[in-house]
Amino acid sequence: MGNGNQVSSHWASSTGGPVHVTVGVTGGIAAYKACTLVRLLVKAGADVTVVPTRAALSMVGRTTWEALSGHPVCTDTDQDAAHVNHVRLGHVSDVIVVAPTTAHTLARIAAGMADDLLTSTVLAARCPVVLVPAMHTEMWLNPATQHNVGTVRGRGITVIEPASGRLTGADSGPGRMPEPEEIFSSLRSLLADHQRNDFAGVRFAISAGGTREPIDPVRFIGNRSSGAFGAAIARHAVARGANVTFVAAHVLPELLRGLTGAAIVQAGTAAELKKQMETAAATADVVIMAAAVADYRPEHVSDAKVKKRDGSPITLTLVENPDILAGLACNRSDPRQTIVGFAAETGDAGSSVLEYGRRKAAAKQVDLMVINEVGEDRGFGDRETAITIVDVSGAVRAAATGTKDELAETILDTISAQRGGTL
Ligand code: C5P
Repeated sequence: MGNGNQVSSHWASSTGGPVHVTVGVTGGIAAYKACTLVRLLVKAGADVTVVPTRAALSMVGRTTWEALSGHPVCTDTDQDAAHVNHVRLGHVSDVIVVAPTTAHTLARIAAGMADDLLTSTVLAARCPVVLVPAMHTEMWLNPATQHNVGTVRGRGITVIEPASGRLTGADSGPGRMPEPEEIFSSLRSLLADHQRNDFAGVRFAISAGGTREPIDPVRFIGNRSSGAFGAAIARHAVARGANVTFVAAHVLPELLRGLTGAAIVQAGTAAELKKQMETAAATADVVIMAAAVADYRPEHVSDAKVKKRDGSPITLTLVENPDILAGLACNRSDPRQTIVGFAAETGDAGSSVLEYGRRKAAAKQVDLMVINEVGEDRGFGDRETAITIVDVSGAVRAAATGTKDELAETILDTISAQRGGTL
């Protein structure tokens, strides 16, 4: 059977054999891209079974799937019935990915239907399920589809957000299937997290985003933080088995939608964030303050919109916000609690970014401080970021450059090591 001679040591299942991946393919034009995904998986040493829908076979034929995967291909439960394929695949798969997922199959999965081999396999699954929707923008944005996305995410299924770009016809917009290489890398990372499960039962309280301090009913003082870093940490922590409470200060909605499995609490201002983090931290093993908290807030918030003053200046008096991180560190609910801060720094003639970060770690008495350099065009929303993680004594525990997803893993690995590997 299959690809045993191609097993890569990088991609073995938890039982030591090759990773079993079931690739569902539905009847969207992006089905042709699934051929590349299957090739990438096979090349990495995975044992791949392709389960197309009947409609998918009119896009790419059975022979192609059988040749690429090295396994027979069925579309319905009554074919090859002796092997009870939906139950077998549901049990042996380490991950099931459906790429592309049409609006129709998404709706069938959301409704819990089992009218072909693919939907029956998804229902019988014991492993993570990943859907990669691809459809026209109007269909993707339709409330029926969005409702179905919410339903399946609520059941723990991962739904990868579609990319924006050219669609089948002359139209373009969100709905495009991400490139096979991106899907492959998401699967690898999800599976690596899942197999590790090293944070099983560990409770995390993570803040992310940026607070907004109101000036009047329509204006505020804010910052450019999207919440991407905190969301990436939360996503990976959940995948590694953690129970995560995510305190979100104006985090982008698409990031929140991707946070299946975390309890999400909204906080708008620094005062709200403080209250929510104190509550979450009271029962947390690990506390991560990734939110950009406003250091100051307007002393008075005007009830009415502040009017223009015919050219004369307006003075806004700002008062300092409490340091939430320092407060959490000095009032730990448990001395074994791990407290992690972020220091978004800019260096200057007097001191380096690292030096400022070290001082901050000591001043706030955190266990770990993640230091990164920011500026007009760095740190916020960048694809590649550089971080250095120091402990309270200033010793460097890790240094890495990469995407926020990769760095989220580095941060979690460092937390795991800090806690002695035994969580
Ligand atoms: O002092 P600075 O704002 O650079 O420190 C950043 C770290 O402190 C971050 O982890 C941030 O979430 C936290 N912080 C806080 N309360 C504040 C300001 C920052 O918890 N008022």
